[in-house]
Amino acid sequence: MKNIIVVGAGYVGLVTAACFADLGNRVIVLDIDKSKIEGLKKGVLPIYEPGLEEMVSRNTTAKRMDFTTSYPQALREAEYVFIAVGTPSGVDGEADLKHVQQAAEAIAEAMTGPLIVVNKSTVPVGTGDWVADIIRAHQSKPIPFAVVSNPEFLREGSAILDFMNPARTVLGSLDPEAVEKVAQLHLPLRAPIVVTDLRTAEMIKYASNAFLATRISFINEIANICEALGADVKEVANGMGYDPRIGRTFLEAGMGYGGSCFPKDVQALAHMAAEKGRNPQLLQAVMDINADRTRLLMERVHELLGDLAGKDIGLLGLTFKPNTDDMREAPSLEIARRLVKKGVVVHAYDPVGMERARDMMPELIMAEDPYALAEGCDALIVCTDWNEFKHLDLSRILQMMKQPVIVDGRNIYDPVVLTRLGFRYRGIGRGYGPDGSPIEEVETEAKVSEK
Ligand code: UDX
Repeated sequence: MKNIIVVGAGYVGLVTAACFADLGNRVIVLDIDKSKIEGLKKGVLPIYEPGLEEMVSRNTTAKRMDFTTSYPQALREAEYVFIAVGTPSGVDGEADLKHVQQAAEAIAEAMTGPLIVVNKSTVPVGTGDWVADIIRAHQSKPIPFAVVSNPEFLREGSAILDFMNPARTVLGSLDPEAVEKVAQLHLPLRAPIVVTDLRTAEMIKYASNAFLATRISFINEIANICEALGADVKEVANGMGYDPRIGRTFLEAGMGYGGSCFPKDVQALAHMAAEKGRNPQLLQAVMDINADRTRLLMERVHELLGDLAGKDIGLLGLTFKPNTDDMREAPSLEIARRLVKKGVVVHAYDPVGMERARDMMPELIMAEDPYALAEGCDALIVCTDWNEFKHLDLSRILQMMKQPVIVDGRNIYDPVVLTRLGFRYRGIGRGYGPDGSPIEEVETEAKVSEK
């Protein structure tokens, strides 16, 4: 059992804290937001992450997990402090480090004994050294400490599973004793441990996320070409994915990447490169392709509906991906904004994201379920690939809609099946070209009964 402090009660901090507690350690979660901490003490989580509430409750009851806003109280017996605070994008795309700085200063002022400071937040290369400088400068008397970079690779929606089954653990520090101690915490996870210096560890995180984002923009570009040439990007990805050098993951064409990590990390990496006089051409293309996804999706909507003014359009799904309530950089918001600008009345349904979305876009009219959403709509746009949308009663949906139009921004439906049912359907990069497509030739039920 080790004494661990986790600073930051967000997606990363809470998952890290709950999982370390579940492994038998004693963990204190520290956040400067009083209402978050009060809520957590009563078992109310500030975020939705599958399995987390139950894990927090179990470990709180077992007295392995506690919550506080006080650094001196938290640090009394601490051996490790994990910094897991937010690093939002600054005005020029650089990572904004004010929360990291505040945490480092507060840790320095409150520490009473030797400490290992582990940085989990995604921070620009060189931040670990900067954090060490801040701590040294703010200590009232010299107390030994080490800074270790330990980037997180957790996906929202499956963060607990990812924490407990990591593909690798990256530890960056030139202090072998500190690395050994942080490695010990991770031994029960039985993953390969990559030990390197601070800056390289920080870079591994950016390079990993930038590479995944590149795969997504790559397949989105291929989707654009598939559309023009009449090929099906889903089958193309399947065909590519069997090659072990390529693999099938992160090749889903759609509305582009969103969320709290990819957009800001790719931007921050490009910013770091440009600051040093490098020209990050590929990263720029990755961002440009991603930024163009919503415009292209809107073209599909126009193609099927013509003038949009006064139309009712329903968004199926709002969150940036399924199994999370996170709305940060969700493509649905950009689509909604574009629709509102065109004079559309925008309706929406999401299994867990509606509350957050309502705060961000009060003009959205929320529906109780997908069927209520479909009622009276001229089109539905699939914005999030929630599982519960995959087996809807589409005949019922068809009957409830004013016009049978579905634009599937996540390719969750089969174009042939939907066309046969009588929908005017457009997916992303799927088997239709500008000059008459295979899909238009599909025998619809209506056509068959006409014969
Ligand atoms: C990501 C990384 O996966 C994780 O390792 C990192 O530490 C944090 O950022 P997350 O933001 O939770 O995790 O989401 P992820 O599942 O990676 O998806 C990111 C975005 O890419 C989503 O908007 C998703 O819809 C989109 N995506 C993903 C695609 O458009 N196509 C794909 O094939 C995969």
